[in-house]
Amino acid sequence: MANLVISLMLWLCLISYAYIAIHAAPEWPRGRSTRFYDFKIQTMTVNKLCNSKQIVTVNNMFPGPVAYAQEGDRLIVKVTNESPYNATIHWHGVRQILSCWFDGPSYITQCPIQAGQSFTYEFTMVRQKGTFFWHAHVSWLRATVYGALVVYPKPGVPYPFKYPYEEHIVILGEYWLQDIVQLERQVLASGGGPPPASAYTINGHPGPNYNCSANDVYKIDVAPGKTYLLRLINAGLNMENFFAIANHKLTIVEADAEYTEPFTTDRVMLGPGQTMNVLVTADQTIGKYSMAMGPYMSAQNVPFQNISAIAYFQYVGALPNSLSLPARLPSFNDNLAVKTVMDGLRGLNTSNVPKEIDTNLFLTIGMNVNKCRSKTPQQNCQGLNNGTMAASMNNISFIKPTVSVLEAYYKGIEGYFTDNFPGAPFRFYDFVNGAPNNAPNDTNSMNGTRVKVLEYGTRVQLILQDTGTVTTENHPIHLHGYSFYVVGYGAGNYNPQTASLNLVDPPYMNTIGVPVGGWAAIRFVADNPGVWFMHCHFDIHQSWGLGTVFIVKNGKGHLETLPHPPADLPRC
Ligand code: C2O
Repeated sequence: MANLVISLMLWLCLISYAYIAIHAAPEWPRGRSTRFYDFKIQTMTVNKLCNSKQIVTVNNMFPGPVAYAQEGDRLIVKVTNESPYNATIHWHGVRQILSCWFDGPSYITQCPIQAGQSFTYEFTMVRQKGTFFWHAHVSWLRATVYGALVVYPKPGVPYPFKYPYEEHIVILGEYWLQDIVQLERQVLASGGGPPPASAYTINGHPGPNYNCSANDVYKIDVAPGKTYLLRLINAGLNMENFFAIANHKLTIVEADAEYTEPFTTDRVMLGPGQTMNVLVTADQTIGKYSMAMGPYMSAQNVPFQNISAIAYFQYVGALPNSLSLPARLPSFNDNLAVKTVMDGLRGLNTSNVPKEIDTNLFLTIGMNVNKCRSKTPQQNCQGLNNGTMAASMNNISFIKPTVSVLEAYYKGIEGYFTDNFPGAPFRFYDFVNGAPNNAPNDTNSMNGTRVKVLEYGTRVQLILQDTGTVTTENHPIHLHGYSFYVVGYGAGNYNPQTASLNLVDPPYMNTIGVPVGGWAAIRFVADNPGVWFMHCHFDIHQSWGLGTVFIVKNGKGHLETLPHPPADLPRC
């Protein structure tokens, strides 16, 4: 009898093992291990800028904890929401191959994790390594809910550059003295623009240019002659930023977690959502040097914080109280400085650049002023010309639905989105110079939750065209679920006759700063089924509707099919 029981149990094990082998995860290259993390979203009190206030963080750290992995590893992150606000975590830059359910944007792939609830994110770093970050993807919470995700190459695989002596994570941020969730509500209710940040921060520290911050400074100690790898991340909310170190050159070797040809420059520009690895050699006389983060503001008439955040790049042996040498940042509107860095970015692994395309979409991106519809215009219509501010793609302001688009799509629940997002603007005109004073005078956008459906495997080209409706501006456009090749960009209106495309060595990115008053062309192959948000990574523009959604259909077989949702997927 005992024998029978044992052999029965053995059989059961074998059968379930066989079941797992057949039906479980796809056969992508496996990493060596699974990394477990426990993220508790909590409020904590911080003292900054002569003020003490409560901010939302992960694990009582600001910036939040670093998640480390190796290429091919699986990450399992249990997120428990101990804050009073709705929350989600997005793994910015992670392609989420066949794991769209764990991508994180609220009302796109999941409903928020409500106060007191938890959700476990599970995904694999399939053929991805480099500097990523994670952030909240709900309201404006990511102002303080962010941290780095660092993924190393597989064991034994070297960097394509000399191994640095040390590496440091440098996260650029924006800090507000106001409660950030309330601030978003107030700004949206006012119909007007957001106030500038109270301070810029480097790894959470504003540095000596701000009140009460002489000792609230981040510092890297360096040894003379050594080379350092800085993992730069822009986690800011509504600003693009320049970064430079006094008297030191930066050599870019990676952008958006993909290697680039080394490119040496005095300064870089990162929009929110962009990451960049730079090498810096401590080859100057022993001393204390400033690392500075300042504004890049390409729009007209928008107030912004103009005080730089400063951190120290300090040589061993420098007098601790010595003055730091100032870093030279470009002026806030130096578009040429931005272009020079863009021009220097060349991809290193570019054998997969799509040479042919199946679908060519043309998307205008920009701002709108909508007619005031409030009975209390004084309170609610503080935008230009007494209207309410909006933003749009192809003149449609994206409205987030009340259940996630992914759930509605997957379960066939009707009424939450429509699949008629237009592949081109309703009308063509001089997008850059045409509005609002010339034709068309109408600066209104339409509201909608319109998505674009793509067949599995479609080779897509997107032309992103900035508009001058209200003001031209460099918009950091981010695509979830994919990286894309930046095959072209230029000033003015896109003209297919004259635009020159680089299909040889374009950079492979996930966030592209579309030039102010210009355009960018990007390409990707839609081979990751799911529901993928594409939006401006300025939170204010996202709130105003500058985004759309791609639904990529399943292909054939389980390697091209999105699996079932996890059992603990939050409910709305
Ligand atoms: Cu980093 Cu949808 O965002």
